[in-house]
Amino acid sequence: MTSIELENVEKVYDPNGEAVEAVTDLDISIRDGEFLVFVGPSGCGKTTTLRMIAGLESVSEGTIHFDDRDVTDVRPRERGVAMVFQDYALYPHMTVRKNIGFGLRLSSGLSEQEIEQRVEETAEMLGIEDLLDDQPDELSGGQQQRVALGRAIVRDPTVFLLDEPLSNLDAKLRDDMRKEIMRLQQELEVTSVYVTHDQTEAMAMGDRVAVMNEGRLQQVGPPEQVYLEPANEFVAGFLGSPSMNFVDAAVESTEKTVQFDGPGSFTVSVSRESISASAEEYDRLTVGIRPEDLTLVESGGVPTEVTVVEAMGDENVVYLEVGDTELTARIDSHRRLSSGDRVHVDFDVEDLYLFEPDSGEAIETKSTARIDETQPPQADVTNPG
Ligand SMILES: Nc1ncnc2c1ncn2[C@@H]1O[C@H](COP(=O)(O)OP(=O)(O)OP(=O)(O)O)[C@@H](O)[C@H]1O
Ligand SMILES: [Mg+2]
Repeated sequence: MTSIELENVEKVYDPNGEAVEAVTDLDISIRDGEFLVFVGPSGCGKTTTLRMIAGLESVSEGTIHFDDRDVTDVRPRERGVAMVFQDYALYPHMTVRKNIGFGLRLSSGLSEQEIEQRVEETAEMLGIEDLLDDQPDELSGGQQQRVALGRAIVRDPTVFLLDEPLSNLDAKLRDDMRKEIMRLQQELEVTSVYVTHDQTEAMAMGDRVAVMNEGRLQQVGPPEQVYLEPANEFVAGFLGSPSMNFVDAAVESTEKTVQFDGPGSFTVSVSRESISASAEEYDRLTVGIRPEDLTLVESGGVPTEVTVVEAMGDENVVYLEVGDTELTARIDSHRRLSSGDRVHVDFDVEDLYLFEPDSGEAIETKSTARIDETQPPQADVTNPG
């Protein structure tokens, strides 16, 4: 079993002398047997990071260790990693059997009989034992991806690397394969690093989720932690669908309350005890609230107008306008709403997130905002407009 340690890892590509800093100062420890997911928008450096762990890409700075072994300059073949890509990259003229056994024949030194046995065991594990004599073009996308997984795990890797392996599959198949990969990983207990730009997939699969943006690691932690306690506005906005609402607000402190004034629309006033002490040191803050934390109330709250309703089945995503501000809410679909309706929305103060307006650093997040478990303080919301 293997742990992976990246220390101050940096990657600068230099196409035609124009340096592209793809990964900057990356420190991360991946535990033995862990399933770690790198997630972030396109171009944030996920694939580059994975390829550096595999040894397919050199590092510009820093070191990579597998346990105590410095593998920074070790060739891919000698690292004992197996990698699965988005395009399955199967050999088109070989049967499934030959595809899965190819790597073993090339480098393992096992006898033909041993190879055959391992190929069959692997195929059984993946439920593709009946396809062993088929050609890749006879297989569905999901079956091809299983073969690609088989080709990787048959070699009994010390580290399993997966780069968006499910992106080419339709939604239903993707869900099935997600579960399949998680089951396999638990069975094999192999340290795995998985890359995706899909935050839902990251949250569903990862023991821990590492959120990247613009080549930098923003935060790493268990899914519920990065969701409830995002380190900054980027992480808060990236995780969760639809995204967190952000309102740029002026802060005014009085003796008993701290008041947030949104842009020409509404004011939220909260008692001092229910907000972190540092919040009142700012003139302006970014206030965040998740769509699922907004509720409809008959009166009071913030008066808004419905602009768009998206039916999602058991709930609707409702877009609301309050003056210049747009809010998104997730509302139970029993409540019938249509564009133009006027509704009042409310929320608990403990569900507010606060961020520094310039750096985006979190000042207050959900679980740390929980002051009184038994009696959640209600927001006192008024709308002068
Ligand atoms: N071989 C290369 N030469 C030059 N620049 C590169 C090379 N590979 C990647 N880059 C650049 O490095 C940055 C990170 O790319 P990378 O492929 O790691 O992103 P990613 O997070 O995997 O994105 P995606 O979600 O689109 O796959 C991007 O700006 C990209 O254009
Ligand atoms: Mg990529």
